[in-house]
Amino acid sequence: MVNWRRLLRMSNRSFLAFIFFFSMSTTCLYFIYVAPGIANTYFFMVQAQGIMLRDNVRTIGQMIRLYTNKNSTVNGTDYPDGSNSSEYLVQPTTYLPENFTYAQNLPCPERLPSMKGLLDVNMTEIPMEEIELKFSKFFDIEFGGHWKPKDCRPRWKVAILIPFRNRHEHLPILFQHLIPMLQRQRLQFAFYVIEQSGSQPFNRAMLFNVGFLEAMKDLNWDCLIFHDVDHIPENDRNYYGCGQMPRHFAAKLDKYMYILPYSEFFGGVSGLTVEQFRKINGFPNAFWGWGGEDDDLWNRVHYAGLNVTRPEGEIGKYKSIPHHHRGEVQFLGRYKLLRYSKERQHLDGLNNLHYSPHISLSNLYKNITVDLYPELAPIRDY
Ligand SMILES: *[C@@H]1O[C@H](CO)[C@@H](O)[C@H](O)[C@H]1NC(C)=O
Ligand SMILES: *[C@@H]1O[C@H](CO)[C@@H](O)[C@H](O)[C@H]1NC(C)=O
Ligand SMILES: *[C@@H]1O[C@H](CO)[C@@H](O)[C@H](O)[C@H]1NC(C)=O
Ligand SMILES: *[C@@H]1O[C@H](CO)[C@@H](O)[C@H](O)[C@H]1NC(C)=O
Ligand SMILES: *[C@@H]1O[C@H](CO)[C@@H](O)[C@H](O)[C@H]1NC(C)=O
Ligand SMILES: *[C@@H]1O[C@H](CO)[C@@H](O)[C@H](O)[C@H]1NC(C)=O
Ligand SMILES: *[C@@H]1O[C@H](CO)[C@@H](O)[C@H](O)[C@H]1NC(C)=O
Repeated sequence: MVNWRRLLRMSNRSFLAFIFFFSMSTTCLYFIYVAPGIANTYFFMVQAQGIMLRDNVRTIGQMIRLYTNKNSTVNGTDYPDGSNSSEYLVQPTTYLPENFTYAQNLPCPERLPSMKGLLDVNMTEIPMEEIELKFSKFFDIEFGGHWKPKDCRPRWKVAILIPFRNRHEHLPILFQHLIPMLQRQRLQFAFYVIEQSGSQPFNRAMLFNVGFLEAMKDLNWDCLIFHDVDHIPENDRNYYGCGQMPRHFAAKLDKYMYILPYSEFFGGVSGLTVEQFRKINGFPNAFWGWGGEDDDLWNRVHYAGLNVTRPEGEIGKYKSIPHHHRGEVQFLGRYKLLRYSKERQHLDGLNNLHYSPHISLSNLYKNITVDLYPELAPIRDY
């Protein structure tokens, strides 16, 4: 009798356990088969949190390293590829003397006496008309935003591409700082503002691809600078020319406490030669919304056998203009796309892009307005 009761109790318990696990698994099955969208979103969020956590851990590690290695913080360090910050010695920075004489038939040097170092950044909003008047009249900027030095041969012909939407108050602030700096660096340059119309999420990368293709119709540029409108350089020795390797100019942002957030960070302001940009098939077109496209560009650069260089020390400092509104949505799909960077590199980029721009010229830039949507960059399965 006693045995039988105990048996009953046991089976009772296991029956309850069976019910419990059965309902658990049917709930899981329900989510996977009946509502895969919800399940995917959930897995996605878990994955995204994992990646963000890893990034944060890396950032904290780097911060600790920087703060404990006092010698390298004094004059800053270079991180070509972010590997070993202590081994990069501060390069001797020799700039030419004030009495240096230019020659019209010789290339302009890279380290000019006119490049003084840290700049005063003034974030006060200023009307575009005022800036246009100032630079067309006193700084010799041609209609459409072109300029080149007259006392030497410019070393680089630089197209500055600025993706844009709803940030009209930022443009004049950027021009006010960038134009005098580029003139002191004696680079030939022009500005292209690529504005996204329509209601799709912002696609920074696709705007850069459009800007590149349009800019190359103007002039045989040899260097491309991909410049966020809200990033203001703080040092005019941050030379906006290109090099043997793609360059990440915005190495230290005030919003990240002037520390590289993670070693593969490639956002804000970067530069590639036209040859390098064509080799990596440009930016990916598939990143709709905020985030991820710069990480994909980093991957593309490395899959093409290239490395990224960064300015050393104080030179790579930038201030970001505070936003009135953070209207743009995040792109959650980026983590999935980033896993297939390599497979997508030759399928999605400059070679699958179609668009019809609306182009107008203004005093300081060419305005390329495009409506973007995913069908403009069809991609075969991979
Ligand atoms: C820091 O610099 C001082 C003098 O400049 C030197 O004696 C010391 O060894 C350096 N420390 C490290 C960790 O490099
Ligand atoms: C930092 O740089 C200045 C000038 O560039 C130099 O005089 C100074 O010795 C440097 N400090 C360290 C700790 O290297
Ligand atoms: C980092 O630098 C140290 C000393 O400069 C060197 O001994 C070490 O091998 C370097 N580590 C890597 C991964 O390059
Ligand atoms: C330029 O200035 C340097 C010292 O700053 C001097 O040694 C040099 O002779 C000057 N050169 C000319 C051409 O005046
Ligand atoms: C910043 O710019 C504004 C507008 O041009 C000007 O009125 C103001 O004096 C400037 N501030 C500084 C500190 O230079
Ligand atoms: C890129 O950097 C890695 C490691 O820092 C190095 O092994 C490789 O040779 C570099 N590639 C080029 C093309 O310089
Ligand atoms: C660019 O041109 C469009 C009209 O085509 C206009 O609506 C827009 O405001 C212009 N953007 C800029 C930044 O000038």
